[in-house]
Amino acid sequence: MATTEKAKERISDEAFRRLVESIVDYAIYMLDPNGRVTSWNPGAERIKGYGPDEIVGEHFSRFYSDEDREADTPKKVLDIARRDGRFEGEGWRVRKDGTRFWASVVIDAIHDDSGKLVGFAKITRDMTEKREAQLRLEESREQLFRSQKMEALGQLTGGLAHDFNNLLTAILGACELAIRNIDNPDKVRRMLDGVRNSAQRGAGLTKQLLAFARAQQLEIKQIDLKTFFADVTTLLRPSLRSNVEVVTEFSNQLWPIDADAGALELAILNLAFNARDAMKDGGTLKISAHNAVLKGSPEGLTGDHVALQISDTGEGMSREVMDRVFEPFFTTKSFGEGTGLGLSQVFGFSKQIGGAITVESRPGKGATFTLYLPASRIAAGDSPKLNGSRSLGRVLVVEDDMLVAELTAGMLGEMGFDSVIAHSAKEALERLAGGDRPKLVLSDVIMPGGISGVELARKVRERYPELPILLITGYSEQASAGHGFPVLQKPYEMSALAGAIGEVLKKEIAVN
Ligand SMILES: Nc1ncnc2c1ncn2[C@@H]1O[C@H](COP(=O)(O)OP(=O)(O)OP(=O)(O)O)[C@@H](O)[C@H]1O
Ligand SMILES: [Mg+2]
Repeated sequence: MATTEKAKERISDEAFRRLVESIVDYAIYMLDPNGRVTSWNPGAERIKGYGPDEIVGEHFSRFYSDEDREADTPKKVLDIARRDGRFEGEGWRVRKDGTRFWASVVIDAIHDDSGKLVGFAKITRDMTEKREAQLRLEESREQLFRSQKMEALGQLTGGLAHDFNNLLTAILGACELAIRNIDNPDKVRRMLDGVRNSAQRGAGLTKQLLAFARAQQLEIKQIDLKTFFADVTTLLRPSLRSNVEVVTEFSNQLWPIDADAGALELAILNLAFNARDAMKDGGTLKISAHNAVLKGSPEGLTGDHVALQISDTGEGMSREVMDRVFEPFFTTKSFGEGTGLGLSQVFGFSKQIGGAITVESRPGKGATFTLYLPASRIAAGDSPKLNGSRSLGRVLVVEDDMLVAELTAGMLGEMGFDSVIAHSAKEALERLAGGDRPKLVLSDVIMPGGISGVELARKVRERYPELPILLITGYSEQASAGHGFPVLQKPYEMSALAGAIGEVLKKEIAVN
Protein backbone atom coordinates (compact mmCIF):
# COMPACT_ATOMS: atom_id res chain seq x y z
CA MET A 1 0.00 0.00 0.00
CA ALA A 2 2.65 2.46 1.15
CA THR A 3 4.78 1.58 -1.84
CA THR A 4 2.00 2.31 -4.33
CA GLU A 5 1.39 5.71 -2.64
CA LYS A 6 5.09 6.48 -2.91
CA ALA A 7 5.12 5.41 -6.53
CA LYS A 8 2.10 7.54 -7.33
CA GLU A 9 3.71 10.49 -5.62
CA ARG A 10 6.87 9.94 -7.62
CA ILE A 11 4.96 9.76 -10.86
CA SER A 12 3.10 12.98 -10.12
CA ASP A 13 6.36 14.61 -9.01
CA GLU A 14 7.87 13.52 -12.27
CA ALA A 15 4.86 14.80 -14.25
CA PHE A 16 5.02 18.06 -12.41
CA ARG A 17 8.75 18.39 -13.06
CA ARG A 18 8.17 17.74 -16.76
CA LEU A 19 5.41 20.33 -16.78
CA VAL A 20 7.64 22.95 -15.21
CA GLU A 21 10.45 21.96 -17.57
CA SER A 22 8.23 22.57 -20.58
CA ILE A 23 7.11 26.04 -19.59
CA VAL A 24 8.97 28.82 -21.37
CA ASP A 25 6.63 31.73 -20.78
CA TYR A 26 7.12 31.73 -17.03
CA ALA A 27 10.28 31.59 -14.99
CA ILE A 28 9.51 28.92 -12.39
CA TYR A 29 12.21 28.07 -9.88
CA MET A 30 12.81 27.28 -6.25
CA LEU A 31 14.80 29.07 -3.59
CA ASP A 32 16.15 27.59 -0.38
CA PRO A 33 15.09 29.29 2.89
CA ASN A 34 18.03 31.71 2.52
CA GLY A 35 17.11 32.79 -0.99
CA ARG A 36 19.60 30.68 -2.98
CA VAL A 37 18.38 29.25 -6.26
CA THR A 38 17.84 25.46 -6.10
CA SER A 39 16.05 24.79 -9.41
CA TRP A 40 15.73 26.53 -12.74
CA ASN A 41 13.30 25.98 -15.64
CA PRO A 42 13.65 26.91 -19.35
CA GLY A 43 11.29 29.83 -18.87
CA ALA A 44 13.68 31.24 -16.28
CA GLU A 45 16.58 30.72 -18.67
CA ARG A 46 14.67 32.41 -21.49
CA ILE A 47 13.55 35.39 -19.45
CA LYS A 48 16.63 35.96 -17.32
CA GLY A 49 19.35 34.69 -19.62
CA TYR A 50 21.22 32.39 -17.18
CA GLY A 51 21.68 28.67 -17.79
CA PRO A 52 20.91 26.36 -14.80
CA ASP A 53 24.59 25.56 -14.18
CA GLU A 54 25.58 29.19 -13.75
CA ILE A 55 22.69 30.20 -11.49
CA VAL A 56 21.80 27.29 -9.22
CA GLY A 57 23.40 28.01 -5.85
CA GLU A 58 23.46 31.77 -6.43
CA HIS A 59 21.43 34.19 -4.32
CA PHE A 60 18.27 35.45 -6.03
CA SER A 61 19.07 39.08 -5.17
CA ARG A 62 21.22 39.20 -8.30
CA PHE A 63 17.98 39.53 -10.34
CA TYR A 64 17.32 42.83 -8.65
CA SER A 65 18.64 46.27 -9.61
CA ASP A 66 21.42 47.91 -7.60
CA GLU A 67 18.94 50.39 -6.09
CA ASP A 68 16.66 47.59 -4.98
CA ARG A 69 19.57 45.69 -3.45
CA GLU A 70 20.67 48.82 -1.62
CA ALA A 71 17.14 49.25 -0.33
CA ASP A 72 17.26 45.63 0.87
CA THR A 73 14.21 44.78 -1.24
CA PRO A 74 15.11 41.07 -1.84
CA LYS A 75 15.23 40.41 1.90
CA LYS A 76 12.02 42.34 2.54
CA VAL A 77 10.23 40.37 -0.16
CA LEU A 78 11.29 37.02 1.34
CA ASP A 79 10.31 38.23 4.82
CA ILE A 80 6.82 38.98 3.56
CA ALA A 81 6.54 35.55 1.90
CA ARG A 82 7.79 33.93 5.11
CA ARG A 83 5.34 35.87 7.27
CA ASP A 84 2.24 35.82 5.03
CA GLY A 85 2.93 32.67 3.02
CA ARG A 86 2.97 34.61 -0.22
CA PHE A 87 4.37 37.74 -1.84
CA GLU A 88 2.99 39.26 -5.05
CA GLY A 89 4.33 42.32 -6.80
CA GLU A 90 5.58 44.01 -9.95
CA GLY A 91 8.83 45.78 -10.56
CA TRP A 92 12.00 46.12 -12.59
CA ARG A 93 14.38 43.11 -12.66
CA VAL A 94 17.74 42.69 -14.37
CA ARG A 95 18.67 40.04 -16.97
CA LYS A 96 22.09 38.45 -17.29
CA ASP A 97 23.02 40.90 -20.05
CA GLY A 98 22.18 43.82 -17.77
CA THR A 99 18.97 44.85 -19.52
CA ARG A 100 15.91 45.43 -17.43
CA PHE A 101 12.48 43.91 -17.73
CA TRP A 102 9.20 44.62 -15.98
CA ALA A 103 8.41 41.55 -13.90
CA SER A 104 5.28 40.27 -12.30
CA VAL A 105 6.41 38.13 -9.38
CA VAL A 106 4.75 35.61 -7.08
CA ILE A 107 6.73 33.98 -4.26
CA ASP A 108 5.16 31.18 -2.21
CA ALA A 109 6.66 29.87 1.01
CA ILE A 110 6.90 26.06 1.02
CA HIS A 111 6.63 24.13 4.30
CA ASP A 112 7.11 20.43 5.01
CA ASP A 113 4.59 18.28 6.89
CA SER A 114 5.94 19.46 10.24
CA GLY A 115 5.47 23.10 9.20
CA LYS A 116 9.16 23.82 8.74
CA LEU A 117 10.09 26.26 5.95
CA VAL A 118 11.91 24.34 3.26
CA GLY A 119 12.16 27.07 0.68
CA PHE A 120 10.24 29.26 -1.75
CA ALA A 121 8.58 28.66 -5.12
CA LYS A 122 9.02 31.61 -7.37
CA ILE A 123 7.11 32.41 -10.53
CA THR A 124 8.15 35.39 -12.62
CA ARG A 125 6.51 36.72 -15.76
CA ASP A 126 8.03 39.19 -18.17
CA MET A 127 5.45 41.96 -18.45
CA THR A 128 7.62 44.44 -20.32
CA GLU A 129 5.66 44.28 -23.54
CA LYS A 130 2.33 44.41 -21.81
CA ARG A 131 3.48 47.30 -19.72
CA GLU A 132 4.83 49.13 -22.73
CA ALA A 133 1.57 48.60 -24.59
CA GLN A 134 -0.27 49.94 -21.56
CA LEU A 135 2.01 52.96 -21.39
CA ARG A 136 1.61 53.56 -25.11
CA LEU A 137 -2.15 53.44 -24.69
CA GLU A 138 -2.04 55.87 -21.79
CA GLU A 139 0.31 58.11 -23.71
CA SER A 140 -1.95 58.18 -26.75
CA ARG A 141 -4.98 58.86 -24.59
CA GLU A 142 -3.09 61.68 -22.97
CA GLN A 143 -2.12 62.99 -26.38
CA LEU A 144 -5.69 62.85 -27.59
CA PHE A 145 -6.81 64.69 -24.50
CA ARG A 146 -4.08 67.28 -24.97
CA SER A 147 -4.93 67.80 -28.60
CA GLN A 148 -8.63 68.09 -27.79
CA LYS A 149 -7.77 70.61 -25.14
CA MET A 150 -5.55 72.51 -27.55
CA GLU A 151 -8.29 72.44 -30.15
CA ALA A 152 -10.76 73.74 -27.59
CA LEU A 153 -8.37 76.44 -26.45
CA GLY A 154 -7.73 77.37 -30.06
CA GLN A 155 -11.43 77.66 -30.67
CA LEU A 156 -11.84 79.77 -27.58
CA THR A 157 -8.94 82.06 -28.34
CA GLY A 158 -10.07 82.44 -31.92
CA GLY A 159 -13.66 83.09 -30.92
CA LEU A 160 -12.78 85.54 -28.22
CA ALA A 161 -10.22 87.38 -30.31
CA HIS A 162 -12.78 87.67 -33.07
CA ASP A 163 -15.52 88.92 -30.73
CA PHE A 164 -13.30 91.35 -28.90
CA ASN A 165 -11.88 92.66 -32.14
CA ASN A 166 -15.34 93.50 -33.36
CA LEU A 167 -16.15 95.23 -30.11
CA LEU A 168 -12.91 97.18 -30.15
CA THR A 169 -13.45 98.18 -33.77
CA ALA A 170 -16.87 99.50 -32.86
CA ILE A 171 -15.49 101.36 -29.84
CA LEU A 172 -12.58 102.87 -31.78
CA GLY A 173 -14.85 103.92 -34.63
CA ALA A 174 -17.33 105.54 -32.29
CA CYS A 175 -14.57 107.40 -30.43
CA GLU A 176 -13.12 108.65 -33.70
CA LEU A 177 -16.52 109.90 -34.83
CA ALA A 178 -17.23 111.48 -31.46
CA ILE A 179 -13.94 113.40 -31.66
CA ARG A 180 -14.75 114.63 -35.16
CA ASN A 181 -18.19 115.74 -34.04
CA ILE A 182 -17.21 117.08 -30.68
CA ASP A 183 -19.36 120.22 -31.21
CA ASN A 184 -22.48 118.21 -31.95
CA PRO A 185 -23.76 116.94 -28.60
CA ASP A 186 -26.47 114.77 -30.17
CA LYS A 187 -23.98 112.88 -32.28
CA VAL A 188 -21.48 112.61 -29.46
CA ARG A 189 -24.18 111.15 -27.23
CA ARG A 190 -25.09 108.58 -29.90
CA MET A 191 -21.48 107.59 -30.30
CA LEU A 192 -21.01 107.26 -26.56
CA ASP A 193 -24.13 105.09 -26.41
CA GLY A 194 -22.49 102.88 -29.00
CA VAL A 195 -19.29 102.71 -26.98
CA ARG A 196 -21.23 101.74 -23.91
CA ASN A 197 -23.12 99.01 -25.77
CA SER A 198 -19.93 97.47 -27.08
CA ALA A 199 -18.27 97.60 -23.69
CA GLN A 200 -21.32 95.94 -22.15
CA ARG A 201 -21.08 93.12 -24.66
CA GLY A 202 -17.41 92.69 -23.81
CA ALA A 203 -18.31 92.59 -20.13
CA GLY A 204 -20.89 89.92 -21.01
CA LEU A 205 -18.21 87.76 -22.60
CA THR A 206 -15.89 87.93 -19.62
CA LYS A 207 -18.89 87.09 -17.45
CA GLN A 208 -19.46 83.82 -19.35
CA LEU A 209 -15.81 82.95 -18.92
CA LEU A 210 -15.89 83.58 -15.20
CA ALA A 211 -19.14 81.68 -14.88
CA PHE A 212 -17.77 78.56 -16.49
CA ALA A 213 -14.82 78.77 -14.14
CA ARG A 214 -17.47 78.90 -11.42
CA ALA A 215 -15.63 81.94 -10.29
CA GLN A 216 -18.29 84.51 -10.86
CA GLN A 217 -19.23 86.43 -7.83
CA LEU A 218 -22.85 85.60 -7.13
CA GLU A 219 -25.17 87.81 -5.24
CA ILE A 220 -27.79 85.39 -4.00
CA LYS A 221 -31.19 86.94 -3.50
CA GLN A 222 -34.71 85.68 -3.29
CA ILE A 223 -36.27 85.72 -6.75
CA ASP A 224 -39.91 85.49 -7.65
CA LEU A 225 -39.79 83.71 -10.98
CA LYS A 226 -43.06 84.95 -12.40
CA THR A 227 -42.14 88.63 -12.39
CA PHE A 228 -38.59 87.70 -13.28
CA PHE A 229 -39.75 85.88 -16.41
CA ALA A 230 -41.94 88.73 -17.52
CA ASP A 231 -38.74 90.83 -17.66
CA VAL A 232 -36.60 88.18 -19.30
CA THR A 233 -39.16 87.41 -22.00
CA THR A 234 -39.37 91.08 -22.86
CA LEU A 235 -35.60 91.09 -23.15
CA LEU A 236 -35.67 87.97 -25.27
CA ARG A 237 -38.30 88.71 -27.88
CA PRO A 238 -36.42 91.26 -29.99
CA SER A 239 -33.54 88.81 -30.53
CA LEU A 240 -35.79 86.04 -31.86
CA ARG A 241 -36.85 85.84 -35.47
CA SER A 242 -40.56 86.22 -36.21
CA ASN A 243 -40.74 82.54 -37.17
CA VAL A 244 -40.07 81.54 -33.57
CA GLU A 245 -43.13 81.41 -31.37
CA VAL A 246 -42.55 81.90 -27.65
CA VAL A 247 -44.84 80.05 -25.24
CA THR A 248 -44.58 80.38 -21.48
CA GLU A 249 -46.24 78.13 -18.95
CA PHE A 250 -45.92 78.63 -15.21
CA SER A 251 -47.72 76.71 -12.55
CA ASN A 252 -49.40 78.86 -9.92
CA GLN A 253 -47.73 79.28 -6.55
CA LEU A 254 -44.28 78.72 -7.92
CA TRP A 255 -41.82 78.70 -5.01
CA PRO A 256 -39.44 81.62 -4.88
CA ILE A 257 -35.83 80.60 -5.43
CA ASP A 258 -32.43 81.75 -4.18
CA ALA A 259 -30.16 82.79 -7.02
CA ASP A 260 -28.22 85.60 -8.57
CA ALA A 261 -30.61 87.47 -10.84
CA GLY A 262 -28.01 88.51 -13.41
CA ALA A 263 -26.51 85.02 -13.71
CA LEU A 264 -29.97 83.39 -13.93
CA GLU A 265 -30.96 85.80 -16.66
CA LEU A 266 -27.78 85.01 -18.56
CA ALA A 267 -28.44 81.27 -18.17
CA ILE A 268 -31.96 81.62 -19.56
CA LEU A 269 -30.75 83.75 -22.44
CA ASN A 270 -27.99 81.23 -23.25
CA LEU A 271 -30.55 78.41 -23.33
CA ALA A 272 -33.02 80.46 -25.36
CA PHE A 273 -30.39 81.55 -27.90
CA ASN A 274 -29.33 77.95 -28.39
CA ALA A 275 -32.97 77.01 -28.96
CA ARG A 276 -33.27 79.84 -31.48
CA ASP A 277 -30.11 78.72 -33.28
CA ALA A 278 -31.47 75.16 -33.47
CA MET A 279 -34.66 76.41 -35.13
CA LYS A 280 -33.32 78.07 -38.25
CA ASP A 281 -36.60 77.35 -40.04
CA GLY A 282 -38.74 78.45 -37.16
CA GLY A 283 -40.57 76.60 -34.43
CA THR A 284 -41.72 76.93 -30.86
CA LEU A 285 -39.64 77.97 -27.88
CA LYS A 286 -41.34 76.97 -24.68
CA ILE A 287 -40.31 78.30 -21.29
CA SER A 288 -42.05 76.62 -18.39
CA ALA A 289 -41.54 76.16 -14.67
CA HIS A 290 -43.03 73.96 -11.99
CA ASN A 291 -42.25 73.06 -8.40
CA ALA A 292 -40.40 69.79 -7.95
CA VAL A 293 -39.60 67.85 -4.78
CA LEU A 294 -36.46 65.89 -5.61
CA LYS A 295 -35.38 62.60 -4.07
CA GLY A 296 -31.77 62.13 -5.01
CA SER A 297 -32.12 62.71 -8.73
CA PRO A 298 -30.83 64.31 -10.85
CA GLU A 299 -27.28 64.48 -9.56
CA GLY A 300 -28.10 63.65 -5.97
CA LEU A 301 -30.41 66.63 -5.46
CA THR A 302 -33.01 66.35 -2.75
CA GLY A 303 -35.71 68.65 -1.44
CA ASP A 304 -37.71 71.57 -2.80
CA HIS A 305 -36.69 72.87 -6.19
CA VAL A 306 -38.15 74.75 -9.09
CA ALA A 307 -37.65 72.98 -12.43
CA LEU A 308 -37.26 75.51 -15.18
CA GLN A 309 -37.58 74.04 -18.67
CA ILE A 310 -36.56 75.53 -21.97
CA SER A 311 -37.56 73.38 -24.92
CA ASP A 312 -37.49 73.85 -28.63
CA THR A 313 -38.74 72.07 -31.73
CA GLY A 314 -35.44 72.44 -33.54
CA GLU A 315 -32.84 70.13 -35.05
CA GLY A 316 -32.03 68.31 -31.81
CA MET A 317 -28.75 66.54 -31.05
CA SER A 318 -27.02 63.22 -31.46
CA ARG A 319 -25.93 61.28 -28.39
CA GLU A 320 -22.30 62.27 -29.03
CA VAL A 321 -23.12 65.96 -29.09
CA MET A 322 -25.38 65.66 -26.07
CA ASP A 323 -22.55 64.06 -24.06
CA ARG A 324 -20.37 67.08 -24.64
CA VAL A 325 -22.71 70.08 -24.65
CA PHE A 326 -21.70 71.36 -21.21
CA GLU A 327 -17.99 71.13 -21.99
CA PRO A 328 -16.39 74.51 -22.14
CA PHE A 329 -15.57 75.55 -25.71
CA PHE A 330 -17.57 72.69 -27.20
CA THR A 331 -19.50 74.03 -30.17
CA THR A 332 -20.86 72.71 -33.44
CA LYS A 333 -21.30 76.23 -34.73
CA SER A 334 -18.89 77.69 -37.23
CA PHE A 335 -16.02 79.96 -36.29
CA GLY A 336 -17.21 83.26 -34.90
CA GLU A 337 -20.80 82.08 -34.48
CA GLY A 338 -20.39 80.38 -31.15
CA THR A 339 -17.70 80.23 -28.51
CA GLY A 340 -19.15 77.10 -26.93
CA LEU A 341 -19.32 78.84 -23.59
CA GLY A 342 -23.07 79.34 -23.34
CA LEU A 343 -23.94 76.02 -21.75
CA SER A 344 -20.77 76.04 -19.67
CA GLN A 345 -22.08 79.19 -18.06
CA VAL A 346 -25.42 77.50 -17.40
CA PHE A 347 -23.64 74.43 -16.01
CA GLY A 348 -21.24 76.42 -13.81
CA PHE A 349 -24.06 78.61 -12.56
CA SER A 350 -26.35 75.68 -11.71
CA LYS A 351 -23.55 73.98 -9.76
CA GLN A 352 -22.58 77.15 -7.97
CA ILE A 353 -26.08 77.76 -6.61
CA GLY A 354 -26.45 74.09 -5.64
CA GLY A 355 -28.75 73.06 -8.49
CA ALA A 356 -28.32 71.06 -11.68
CA ILE A 357 -28.95 71.12 -15.41
CA THR A 358 -30.09 68.18 -17.55
CA VAL A 359 -30.73 67.75 -21.25
CA GLU A 360 -32.97 65.51 -23.33
CA SER A 361 -32.88 65.47 -27.09
CA ARG A 362 -33.02 63.39 -30.25
CA PRO A 363 -31.86 64.31 -33.73
CA GLY A 364 -34.68 66.10 -35.52
CA LYS A 365 -36.87 66.04 -32.43
CA GLY A 366 -35.92 69.23 -30.63
CA ALA A 367 -34.27 69.58 -27.25
CA THR A 368 -35.34 70.20 -23.66
CA PHE A 369 -33.01 71.64 -21.05
CA THR A 370 -34.16 71.51 -17.43
CA LEU A 371 -32.56 73.78 -14.88
CA TYR A 372 -33.18 72.70 -11.27
CA LEU A 373 -33.07 75.68 -8.94
CA PRO A 374 -33.16 75.26 -5.16
CA ALA A 375 -36.29 76.77 -3.57
CA SER A 376 -35.64 79.75 -1.36
CA ARG A 377 -34.45 79.26 2.18
CA ILE A 378 -34.64 82.95 2.93
CA ALA A 379 -37.89 83.77 4.77
CA ALA A 380 -40.01 86.28 2.86
CA GLY A 381 -39.48 89.90 3.84
CA ASP A 382 -36.05 89.17 5.24
CA SER A 383 -34.16 91.47 2.97
CA PRO A 384 -33.35 94.74 4.69
CA LYS A 385 -35.08 97.76 3.25
CA LEU A 386 -32.81 100.65 2.55
CA ASN A 387 -34.17 103.93 3.77
CA GLY A 388 -34.61 106.78 1.38
CA SER A 389 -32.58 109.44 3.16
CA ARG A 390 -29.47 110.41 1.30
CA SER A 391 -26.12 111.12 2.76
CA LEU A 392 -23.44 112.75 0.70
CA GLY A 393 -19.86 113.09 1.75
CA ARG A 394 -16.30 112.52 0.67
CA VAL A 395 -15.03 109.25 -0.76
CA LEU A 396 -11.36 108.33 -0.69
CA VAL A 397 -10.71 106.63 -4.02
CA VAL A 398 -7.57 104.44 -4.00
CA GLU A 399 -6.65 103.54 -7.56
CA ASP A 400 -3.32 103.49 -9.34
CA ASP A 401 -4.74 103.90 -12.84
CA MET A 402 -5.27 107.64 -13.40
CA LEU A 403 -7.98 107.16 -15.97
CA VAL A 404 -10.01 104.75 -13.89
CA ALA A 405 -9.58 106.96 -10.84
CA GLU A 406 -10.90 110.00 -12.70
CA LEU A 407 -13.77 107.98 -14.12
CA THR A 408 -14.73 106.69 -10.68
CA ALA A 409 -14.55 110.18 -9.25
CA GLY A 410 -16.81 111.31 -12.10
CA MET A 411 -19.38 108.63 -11.30
CA LEU A 412 -19.24 109.45 -7.61
CA GLY A 413 -19.85 113.08 -8.53
CA GLU A 414 -23.00 112.08 -10.41
CA MET A 415 -24.23 110.42 -7.23
CA GLY A 416 -23.52 113.49 -5.17
CA PHE A 417 -20.26 112.51 -3.52
CA ASP A 418 -17.03 114.44 -3.45
CA SER A 419 -13.92 112.40 -3.97
CA VAL A 420 -10.23 112.51 -3.19
CA ILE A 421 -7.90 110.27 -5.14
CA ALA A 422 -4.96 108.41 -3.64
CA HIS A 423 -2.77 106.68 -6.21
CA SER A 424 -1.49 104.01 -3.84
CA ALA A 425 -2.44 102.34 -0.59
CA LYS A 426 0.51 104.07 1.05
CA GLU A 427 -0.76 107.46 -0.02
CA ALA A 428 -4.23 106.58 1.28
CA LEU A 429 -2.86 105.54 4.67
CA GLU A 430 -0.85 108.75 4.88
CA ARG A 431 -3.98 110.79 4.22
CA LEU A 432 -5.89 108.95 6.91
CA ALA A 433 -2.98 109.31 9.33
CA GLY A 434 -3.02 113.02 8.57
CA GLY A 435 -6.54 113.25 9.99
CA ASP A 436 -8.63 112.95 6.82
CA ARG A 437 -11.91 111.17 7.64
CA PRO A 438 -13.88 110.36 4.48
CA LYS A 439 -17.33 108.72 4.49
CA LEU A 440 -15.95 105.73 2.65
CA VAL A 441 -12.75 104.20 1.31
CA LEU A 442 -13.11 102.80 -2.19
CA SER A 443 -10.03 100.79 -3.19
CA ASP A 444 -8.85 98.72 -6.10
CA VAL A 445 -7.60 95.30 -4.98
CA ILE A 446 -4.60 95.00 -7.24
CA MET A 447 -2.12 97.82 -7.13
CA PRO A 448 1.39 97.37 -8.40
CA GLY A 449 4.09 97.53 -5.75
CA GLY A 450 3.67 97.65 -2.02
CA ILE A 451 0.34 97.22 -0.28
CA SER A 452 -2.65 95.53 -1.94
CA GLY A 453 -6.22 96.69 -1.55
CA VAL A 454 -7.03 93.83 0.80
CA GLU A 455 -4.06 94.65 3.03
CA LEU A 456 -5.07 98.30 2.96
CA ALA A 457 -8.61 97.32 3.98
CA ARG A 458 -7.24 95.27 6.89
CA LYS A 459 -5.06 98.15 8.09
CA VAL A 460 -7.94 100.60 7.79
CA ARG A 461 -10.28 98.29 9.71
CA GLU A 462 -7.65 97.90 12.42
CA ARG A 463 -6.85 101.58 12.79
CA TYR A 464 -10.21 103.17 11.98
CA PRO A 465 -12.81 100.50 12.71
CA GLU A 466 -15.74 102.83 12.02
CA LEU A 467 -14.59 103.69 8.48
CA PRO A 468 -16.47 101.73 5.76
CA ILE A 469 -14.48 100.09 2.96
CA LEU A 470 -15.50 98.88 -0.47
CA LEU A 471 -13.05 96.91 -2.64
CA ILE A 472 -13.10 96.76 -6.42
CA THR A 473 -11.58 93.91 -8.40
CA GLY A 474 -11.39 92.44 -11.85
CA TYR A 475 -10.70 88.96 -10.54
CA SER A 476 -13.33 86.99 -8.79
CA GLU A 477 -10.86 84.91 -6.76
CA GLN A 478 -10.16 87.96 -4.70
CA ALA A 479 -13.85 88.65 -4.47
CA SER A 480 -14.42 85.37 -2.73
CA ALA A 481 -11.09 85.04 -0.93
CA GLY A 482 -12.78 85.09 2.44
CA HIS A 483 -11.29 88.37 3.62
CA GLY A 484 -14.74 89.55 4.61
CA PHE A 485 -14.72 92.94 2.90
CA PRO A 486 -17.47 93.91 0.46
CA VAL A 487 -16.32 93.71 -3.14
CA LEU A 488 -17.56 95.19 -6.39
CA GLN A 489 -16.70 93.34 -9.56
CA LYS A 490 -15.12 95.09 -12.55
CA PRO A 491 -16.29 96.21 -15.03
CA TYR A 492 -19.22 97.92 -13.37
CA GLU A 493 -21.74 100.52 -14.30
CA MET A 494 -22.80 103.50 -12.29
CA SER A 495 -25.93 101.79 -10.97
CA ALA A 496 -23.83 98.87 -9.67
CA LEU A 497 -21.39 101.25 -7.98
CA ALA A 498 -24.30 103.15 -6.42
CA GLY A 499 -25.85 99.87 -5.26
CA ALA A 500 -22.60 98.64 -3.72
CA ILE A 501 -21.91 101.94 -1.95
CA GLY A 502 -25.52 101.95 -0.79
CA GLU A 503 -25.09 98.54 0.80
CA VAL A 504 -21.88 99.51 2.54
CA LEU A 505 -23.29 102.79 3.86
CA LYS A 506 -26.74 101.24 4.52
CA LYS A 507 -28.22 104.11 2.54
CA GLU A 508 -30.01 104.29 -0.74
CA ILE A 509 -27.86 106.05 -3.31
CA ALA A 510 -29.67 107.60 -6.26
CA VAL A 511 -27.96 108.08 -9.58
CA ASN A 512 -28.63 111.55 -10.96
N1 LIG B 1 -31.31 73.57 -28.09
C1 LIG B 1 -30.34 72.95 -28.75
N2 LIG B 1 -30.59 72.19 -29.84
C2 LIG B 1 -29.60 71.56 -30.50
N3 LIG B 1 -28.29 71.64 -30.17
C3 LIG B 1 -27.97 72.38 -29.11
C4 LIG B 1 -28.96 73.08 -28.34
N4 LIG B 1 -28.33 73.71 -27.35
C5 LIG B 1 -27.01 73.46 -27.48
N5 LIG B 1 -26.77 72.66 -28.54
C6 LIG B 1 -25.47 72.15 -28.98
O1 LIG B 1 -24.54 72.36 -27.94
C7 LIG B 1 -23.42 73.12 -28.41
C8 LIG B 1 -22.87 73.93 -27.27
O2 LIG B 1 -23.75 74.94 -26.87
P1 LIG B 1 -23.20 76.24 -26.14
O3 LIG B 1 -24.36 77.13 -25.85
O4 LIG B 1 -22.36 75.82 -25.01
O5 LIG B 1 -22.25 76.88 -27.21
P2 LIG B 1 -22.63 77.60 -28.56
O6 LIG B 1 -24.08 77.95 -28.59
O7 LIG B 1 -22.13 76.77 -29.67
O8 LIG B 1 -21.77 78.92 -28.47
P3 LIG B 1 -22.07 80.20 -27.53
O9 LIG B 1 -23.22 79.85 -26.65
O10 LIG B 1 -20.82 80.40 -26.76
O11 LIG B 1 -22.36 81.29 -28.46
C9 LIG B 1 -23.97 73.91 -29.57
O12 LIG B 1 -22.94 74.27 -30.47
C10 LIG B 1 -24.95 72.91 -30.17
O13 LIG B 1 -24.28 71.97 -30.98
MG1 LIG C 1 -24.99 78.91 -26.98
